[in-house]
Amino acid sequence: MIDNERPIAVFDSGIGGVSVLRELVALAPNENVIYYGDSANAPYGEKSPELVRELSFAVVERLLKMDAKALVVACNTATGAAVRKLREKYPLLPIVGIEPAIKPAVLFGEQLYKGTGRLSKILVMATPVTISQDKFHLLTEEYEQRAEIIPLPCPHLAELIEKGDPNSAEIKVYLRELLSPYGDVDAVVLGCTHYPFVKRHIEATLPSSKIFDGGFGTAREALRRIKNAELENISGKNGKITFLSSKAEETSELYRRFLEMNI
Ligand code: DGL
Repeated sequence: MIDNERPIAVFDSGIGGVSVLRELVALAPNENVIYYGDSANAPYGEKSPELVRELSFAVVERLLKMDAKALVVACNTATGAAVRKLREKYPLLPIVGIEPAIKPAVLFGEQLYKGTGRLSKILVMATPVTISQDKFHLLTEEYEQRAEIIPLPCPHLAELIEKGDPNSAEIKVYLRELLSPYGDVDAVVLGCTHYPFVKRHIEATLPSSKIFDGGFGTAREALRRIKNAELENISGKNGKITFLSSKAEETSELYRRFLEMNI
């Protein structure tokens, strides 16, 4: 295969990274992409960081055997636990991870309270592992003078979404109970790639908060890195998306359905 036509590998613990894949294929429909969901081992967000790292390395090895030209870690949890070590091991591979989009939320809050001396309130929803990681602490510390940042671990939420129906009554009740104490936040950061699929239910509970999600920024950064490495697919043909899952075959079909879903 011509070097530039090699696929971009996008991976997540399961279905969530499809929210990043959507942005990537919208920006670069000509790229070939392999999407890999480790649904057999999901959720990552409630495992130890060591185990998440181990699982991430196993997935990446598999994807590299498929000749991936770049890697998008479309999972905040795996990014926090493994991306640094992945870059050490594969220094020549363009690797882009996703992290909670706190910066644009802080900028939005500053604009909102400009000249008032008030700090905005920003709720960061993420998995328990993401919130426990040093990478997350460093990120929030960077902005603590500029906004009140409230980390909110959301145990089991990714697991509920992984079941395949983001509009289930179970999810609506879960979100209502979890989020109703936070009616006064100015912004909500979706710090897990599964959560954009339930964005409408988050908005229904917190209608006056603006929602931020890092999917678009991550996809754009991945394409920038690919371009810089002169690996852009310039063939002009439509790209092919291949879905793979560590779970059953039908799971890959579920990923495809989520790619086409209105969110
Ligand atoms: N989608 C993943 C993330 O962005 C984690 C979901 C899980 O717990 O497996 O953090």
